Amino acid sequence: MTIILAIETSCDETAAAVIKDGTTILANVVATQMESHARFGGVVPEVASRHHVEAVTAVVEEALEKAEVTFSDLTAVAVTEGPGLVGALLVGIHTAKAIAFAYQLPLIGVHHIAGHIYANQLVQPMQFPLLALVASGGHTELILMKEDGVFEPIGQTRDDAVGEAYDKAARAMKLPYPGGPNVEKLALEATEEINLPRSWLEKGSYDFSFSGLKSAVLNRIHNDQQKGIDTNFAALAKGFQESVTDVLVTRTVTAYDEFQPKQVLVAGGVAANKGLRQALENRLANKVELVIPPLHLCTDNAAMIGACAHQMWLSGARGDLSMNGRPGMPL
Ligand code: KG4
Ligand code: ZN
Repeated sequence: MTIILAIETSCDETAAAVIKDGTTILANVVATQMESHARFGGVVPEVASRHHVEAVTAVVEEALEKAEVTFSDLTAVAVTEGPGLVGALLVGIHTAKAIAFAYQLPLIGVHHIAGHIYANQLVQPMQFPLLALVASGGHTELILMKEDGVFEPIGQTRDDAVGEAYDKAARAMKLPYPGGPNVEKLALEATEEINLPRSWLEKGSYDFSFSGLKSAVLNRIHNDQQKGIDTNFAALAKGFQESVTDVLVTRTVTAYDEFQPKQVLVAGGVAANKGLRQALENRLANKVELVIPPLHLCTDNAAMIGACAHQMWLSGARGDLSMNGRPGMPL
C-alpha cells in the first residue's frame, strides 16, 4: 500500500491531497485565491505567492486530518515541480522539501499537465494507447500516451491557450475572472448567436490557434461601439463557445480516427465546460471509452498530483532536496 501526500501551488489554488494506492482519494483540500485575483482581472503572481505562503500549512494539516493519517504513515511526499508561476511553485516545493527532510520521506516532483491527465486515474483505470485532450489556462494540447508515464504531444496551441482565450474574451465582455465559467453561464442566456471564425490551420495539423478568435471578439465589440450599438454579449459568448468547442472536438475526433486509442481522456480546467463535455460525448462516446473527470478534478487540485506521483513512484522516480521550481518544465 502507498499513501502519498501531494501538494499543488502552481497557480492560484493552494491544494493538498492524500492518495492511497494511486486511485483512492483519502482527502482533497483546495483553498482558492480566485476572489483576490478577480479584482485585477487575472492572476497576479506576487499576490498568488503570498497567499500560498499564508495557506499552505493549514491546507496540508487539513488534508492529513481529513485522511486520518499522520506524517509517519506516508510513503512519499509529492509536489508540482512545474510548469507554473515560479514564486507560487516554490511555496509548494519548499513545503514538500521540509516535510521530506523532517520525516525522511522520498520526494516526487510532478509535471502539472501530467497531473491533469492522471486525474482520470481517480475515475477509471487508464488504458493504453490513450489520447488526452488537455485544455487549461496555460495549455491546449493533444497528447498520445502509448504507455504509463510516456507523453507524445501531437498538437498544441501556437498562441493563446484555450482557457486564456476564455479569460480574455470574458474581460472584453466585462465578465469577472475566471472567464471560463462566466462565459459559459452567459452563453446559456443567449437567444441568438454571433457567428465567429474557427481557426483550422493547415490540413493534417493537430495544432490550435485561438488568438484570431480573441481578436474577432474584440473587433466585434469595437465595431459595435463605433456604430453606437450595444453588443449582445450573450450572443457573442455563445458564438465564442461554439467556435472553441467546434475546434477542440473536431481535432480530437480526427486524432481518434487516426490513432485509434482505447481511451480518450479530457483534462484541465476547460474540461469543466458543460458544452465541451456534451459535444465530446455526442461525437465519441459511442466509439471509444471517453473519460472526463468530475468538475472538481478538472480544475487545479492536488489529488491529480498524487495520482500521477503514484505511477512515478512505481517507476522509481525520486527527487531530492535540490528540487527547484521549473516554470517551463517540459512534459
Ligand atoms: O487547469 P486550470 O484550473 O488551471 C491551469 O492550470 O491553467 O484551468 C483554468 C482555466 C481558466 O482559464 C478558466 O477560465 C478555465 O480553465 N475554465 C473554464 C471553465 N472552468 C474553468 N473554461 C470554460 N468553461 C468552464 N466551465
Ligand atoms: Zn491546471
